Amino acid sequence: MKVKPSESLKIDAFSMRIGDVQDVELDRLHALSLSVGWPHRAEDWQFLREVGQGFVALDEIGRVLGSAMWFPHGASFATIGMVITSPRLQTLGAAQWLMHRVFDKIPGRSQRLNATRAARRLYLSLDFQPEKTIYQCQGIARVPTTRSLAEVSGDIRTLDASNIPAAIALDAAGFGVERTALIEKLFAHSSGYGLFDGKKLTAFALCRPFGRGHVVGPVVAESDADAVALVRPHVADHSGSFLRVDTHMNNGEFAAFLSHAGMPVFDTVLTMSLGKRLPEFSAGGSARPKTYALASQTLG
Ligand SMILES: CC(C)(COP(=O)(O)OP(=O)(O)OC[C@H]1O[C@@H](n2cnc3c(N)ncnc32)[C@H](O)[C@@H]1OP(=O)(O)O)[C@@H](O)C(=O)NCCC(=O)NCCS
Repeated sequence: MKVKPSESLKIDAFSMRIGDVQDVELDRLHALSLSVGWPHRAEDWQFLREVGQGFVALDEIGRVLGSAMWFPHGASFATIGMVITSPRLQTLGAAQWLMHRVFDKIPGRSQRLNATRAARRLYLSLDFQPEKTIYQCQGIARVPTTRSLAEVSGDIRTLDASNIPAAIALDAAGFGVERTALIEKLFAHSSGYGLFDGKKLTAFALCRPFGRGHVVGPVVAESDADAVALVRPHVADHSGSFLRVDTHMNNGEFAAFLSHAGMPVFDTVLTMSLGKRLPEFSAGGSARPKTYALASQTLG
């Protein structure tokens, strides 16, 4: 008698091994982020590999089924990002496993990350504490017809490499820790506008290719009006194409400007931290200047 094959087949346990994110083909990393609907291009992964370190989870034939990266800044702080597990592997403990491997590499460092809704439970179970909401604003850019009510004092000029040290100092004031290597690298990939008081840089906004178009960030400024004045020329440069800004601001002139510039809130993520919080960054902190836009959700 011929046995009819079953309509279903249960495939369970398979083992994974850990690998270095630097050692796998870019296309495989790209396929992983595509599998969870993230917009990163292969070039965006390459940029992250150049500024950070990370692990991948590999199956028996070398397919990348998970990732987790970290980005150390200074001696006692790191951000974590690109925590992904392939849909077929989710809820089986793979992300926990990858996160513990990362923890082993950065003992004693305070950590910050931006958690998607899908990942909040994971990070809460690892003792991360919620800090602030991030608003992911994006869309087809258009220059708003309304002008800012507040005057900006100073000149807006394009940035060049000579402005890097001043930008590093401004970024550190807004972010809470100096990110020298990252800001240098971002300058190499970005166009930038700065607000100058004479020769002194008082605020800046970078913009670079990312995902579906371009991302504006970091933006560091002392006031909403200054931040708007610096993002506006980037909007003009990319008018009619896809532009994105990740910001903690959900009201005030800056948030209103983004919406008028064709970038309404698309989604939110939650900044969470583990260990000592950076005072400049904590909600209600009075540090000036402020970070108006992140470099990216992954980088903070
Ligand atoms: C978020 C993500 C990385 C979690 O990966 P994972 O491999 O499923 O996580 P784990 O299996 O290690 O689960 C860790 C914890 O979250 C819980 N969990 C995971 N997915 C869950 C779900 N869909 N519903 C309820 N709980 C869930 C697990 O039960 C576990 O909880 P516990 O520690 O209390 O036991 C994965 O879903 C993913 O890649 N999502 C898309 C990309 C993304 O959003 N990444 C996060 C970037 S910040």
